[in-house]
Amino acid sequence: MMRFLLALALVAGQSLLAADEEKTLSLQLPPASLEKWYRPANKRDVWLHTMFRLRREMQAVSEYAALEDSARLKKWLARLEKDYLSIGEMVPEWKDELEDGLLKKMRTAAAAGDAEAMGRWQRKLGKSCQSCHAEYKLTAALLYRAPDFSAVKVESEETLEEEDYSRVMSRLSLLLNRVKIAGEDGRQQAATDALGQLEQRLADLGGSCSACHKQESAREIILGREAKASLAHVRQGLEAGDQKRTGRYLGEFAVGVCADCHAIHRLQSNMRRLLSGD
Ligand code: HEC
Ligand code: HEC
Ligand code: HEC
Repeated sequence: MMRFLLALALVAGQSLLAADEEKTLSLQLPPASLEKWYRPANKRDVWLHTMFRLRREMQAVSEYAALEDSARLKKWLARLEKDYLSIGEMVPEWKDELEDGLLKKMRTAAAAGDAEAMGRWQRKLGKSCQSCHAEYKLTAALLYRAPDFSAVKVESEETLEEEDYSRVMSRLSLLLNRVKIAGEDGRQQAATDALGQLEQRLADLGGSCSACHKQESAREIILGREAKASLAHVRQGLEAGDQKRTGRYLGEFAVGVCADCHAIHRLQSNMRRLLSGD
């Protein structure tokens, strides 16, 4: 099997002086054929739903084996077998990793009503689930289910131009710091101009949420009334030459808008980009 290795350098310790303690971590990417079992290539996240079924089927099998309910046990065992084998049909690269022999053994144990053997083979099957998960679960979830910000455009209301997220973000950061620097140095006009631009850019950014959020509520939580109120205080602080007030509300804004949205989206976006090589 093709192995894509990706090395992440994790700097251990607190400073660069500790660079000799650098550690690396390898992450393995799933075969590309997995992609077609996820949206948008597929109508649904077929792969994930198959996995949820497998977990349910494993549970039903242990419960009915314990209850010695052989009719229901057979029913769930058949479903488990079908879904487990579908792994190799969906992702041919993984066919050889499957332990199909165990399912046959489980069927034999069920037919013989041998609960002890049943438990043993099922635990082994569980290990085969885990060994694939240890290698691929995280990277598959990030690659195929983390929101894809690289595809989202932000339209400027002023120029009608479409910009990508990372550009818009750099601009927001620049404007925020300009308000801070000019405010601190008593350059009131420059600070309020930058603030006006920041407000405009945020309004533009707000237009992009609907690319993924059908409801307005997400946008309201981050960019709604509270964010606007913080910036109104910043403006009043600047106009009154009140640095304490300006600083306090600018800080409140940076946490409630920038940091809170980053806590939800940024890390996932960065990880997805890293893994997909964008
Ligand atoms: C050959 C690889 C492979 C095998 C074998 C496999 N899985 Fe998975 N499984 C995955 C991948 C990849 C994911 C990540 C999917 C995602 O998050 O979108 C996953 C995710 C899951 C999840 C969702 C995990 C969560 O975070 O809630 C469940 C449940 C699951 N698998 C159950 C099973 C069970 C039970 C078996 C064995 C009977 C099994 N899987 C066998 C590859 C495999
Ligand atoms: C590329 C898709 C995408 C874009 C664009 C996007 N989000 Fe999200 N957002 C998601 C997904 C998916 C979740 C839920 C899962 C999670 O935690 O990652 C989420 C969760 C959230 C949540 C927490 C859950 C909730 O709905 O209350 C907030 C708040 C939020 N987003 C705000 C925003 C705002 C504000 C914007 C626009 C500035 C935005 N999002 C743009 C995909 C996106
Ligand atoms: C959708 C909610 C959201 C809001 C609100 C938000 N950001 Fe971001 N920010 C992101 C995402 C997502 C990324 C990663 C984008 C990517 O993967 O390119 C990011 C990345 C960044 C980056 C790194 C850009 C780069 O590519 O180097 C900076 C700087 C940044 N944001 C600053 C800000 C500032 C300052 C604010 C507040 C004024 C802010 N962001 C508000 C979601 C948000």
